[in-house]
Amino acid sequence: AFTPRVFSGIQPSGGLTLGNYLGAMKRFVDMQGSGIETIYCVVDMHAITVWQDPEALRRQTRELTAGYLAAGLDPTKSILFNQSQVPEHAQLAWIFNCVARVGWMNRMTQFKDKAGKNAEKASLGLYAYPALMAADILVYHATQVPVGEDQKQHVELTRDIAAKFNHDYGVEFFPMTDPVIEGAATRVMSLRDGTKKMSKSDPSDASRINMTDDADAIAKKIRKAKTDPEPLPSEATGLAERPEARNLVNIYAALSEQSTEAVMREVGGRAFSEFKPMLAELAVEKLAPISSEMARLMQEPAEIDRILKDGSERARDIAAPILRKTYEIVGM
Ligand code: ADP
Ligand code: NA
Repeated sequence: AFTPRVFSGIQPSGGLTLGNYLGAMKRFVDMQGSGIETIYCVVDMHAITVWQDPEALRRQTRELTAGYLAAGLDPTKSILFNQSQVPEHAQLAWIFNCVARVGWMNRMTQFKDKAGKNAEKASLGLYAYPALMAADILVYHATQVPVGEDQKQHVELTRDIAAKFNHDYGVEFFPMTDPVIEGAATRVMSLRDGTKKMSKSDPSDASRINMTDDADAIAKKIRKAKTDPEPLPSEATGLAERPEARNLVNIYAALSEQSTEAVMREVGGRAFSEFKPMLAELAVEKLAPISSEMARLMQEPAEIDRILKDGSERARDIAAPILRKTYEIVGM
């Protein structure tokens, strides 16, 4: 049996969005201090699978770290570090490149979405991304990975890689990691199109709520959010065919730590002209303290770097023996 251990990561590929906060960061913080070891990462090696300006990458790495800390991650309770400072991730990823099959990678929907029509021009790294993600998780023998819904397929691939490695080498070395996809906001949608995910990696979407937005910007984006003309339905079941309304209610539920059903008992039947200001007020109340703390932390880059360096040393203490044992199993 494997000791329960939590791992997850976020790419420093742009400004953090409300989707990252509700679908990932807030949930990472909630899992901290529950008695299970928690390991959280800035996955810069994933970010460079698409072009990143070097200075921007450095800044975004610090800003994401500041976001983790401002959202409530405590580096004395969790290990918080930057992926490229722990070379065992890349080393295990190579082994996994040799375990994973091309056919498995061909089924990954994120690659298809991100590569677009011209997949021949995508980086080889973007294609191999899920094998690196499997290494991120398994180099710690992590048993649970809190993620948004968009990452479910990659965690399933991680299990496939672990199973094939264990089978091929006749060992029970890697755990079968469970994705943890819970809560009202595991897939926050764009405010201008309820059928598209809100993503930091899509700079063309001006409707997205950034964790660094001030109160006015947040309120304005929520006021302008696309909706249908009907008032909210009286019950949660009435949201089924109404993606924009459902998205706003889910955001409200996640921010207020209630179920979607409980929120609908409070706001069912109201017009959007009434509900949107309620949502804006709640979003500002929850996000403004985080964004001001992020700004404060960004004035102390040396402190951020120190926290990451300390975290990478603690991460290596776990990863290095697991990589060494993997090499031994493989015959290296
Ligand atoms: P992005 O897609 O915004 O670039 P990442 O790929 O770095 O974000 O993902 C970081 C974490 O945030 C993952 O667990 C992912 O599932 C989660 N996440 C990203 N966007 C959303 C969203 N719109 N709703 C819920 N979770 C999200
Ligand atoms: Na993503």
